[in-house]
Amino acid sequence: MEIYFRAFEKDDYKTTHSWRLNRNVTNSLGGNTFFVSSSREAEWVESVIENDRTNLYLAICLKENHTLVGYCSLNSIENINKKAELSIVIGDENMQGKGIGLNAVQLLLQHGFQELNLNKIYLKVLTTNKRAIELYKKCGLKEEGILREEVFKCNKYNDMMMMSILKSEYNG
Ligand SMILES: CC(C)(COP(=O)(O)OP(=O)(O)OC[C@H]1O[C@@H](n2cnc3c(N)ncnc32)[C@H](O)[C@@H]1OP(=O)(O)O)[C@@H](O)C(=O)NCCC(=O)NCCS
Repeated sequence: MEIYFRAFEKDDYKTTHSWRLNRNVTNSLGGNTFFVSSSREAEWVESVIENDRTNLYLAICLKENHTLVGYCSLNSIENINKKAELSIVIGDENMQGKGIGLNAVQLLLQHGFQELNLNKIYLKVLTTNKRAIELYKKCGLKEEGILREEVFKCNKYNDMMMMSILKSEYNG
C-alpha cells in the first residue's frame, strides 16, 4: 500500500491514543508499559509537532484515503557523530503485514541519509519481535549485538538486539 509522511497535527492524539491502549502493539515495543491518559497523549503529540533538530516524528498516512496508520521517528539526532535512532509503529493492527512498515522504513532511511546527511541509523528491537527484525534486515540493517535483559516488561527481563545501517551500506 502506498504511503506518505506528514508532520503530526494536534488532533492526531485521538488516533495515537487508541493505539496506545492496544497491548498487542505496546508489548512489541521496547519501552516500558505505562497508562497514558488522552490529555497526556495530546501533550505528547503537541511536543512532537515541534520536530526540532534532535527528534523528528513523522505520521504515516495511506495515499488512497489519507488515513493515519502509524508513525516513525529519528531520535537523538547527533550533529557531530551524524547518527540517529529509528523507531516505527504501525499502530492500526489491521494495517500490519501489508508492506506499510517496509515502505515506511525505506522512506525514513532515504530521508535520514539523503536529506539529513546522517552517517548511521541504529535501533533497538526486542529479540522476540521477529517481524520487525525481518523487516529491518530487508532494509539493510545489520545486527550489532544483543543487549541482555535490557528491558523489564510482560513479567520478565527481555533481551534486545542492536541493529544499524551505515550510509556507505545504504543503496536505496
Ligand atoms: C513491526 C512493524 C513495523 C512491521 O510493519 P508491517 O507493515 O506490519 O510489516 P510489513 O508488512 O511491511 O512486513 C515487512 C516484512 O516483515 C516480515 N514479516 C511480516 N510479518 C512477519 C511475521 N509475522 N513474522 C516474521 N516476519 C514477518 C516479512 O519479511 C515482511 O516482508 P514480506 O511481506 O515481503 O514477506 C509493524 O508490524 C508494527 O508496527 N508492529 C507493532 C510495533 C512494533 O513492533 N514496532 C517495531 C518496534 S522495534
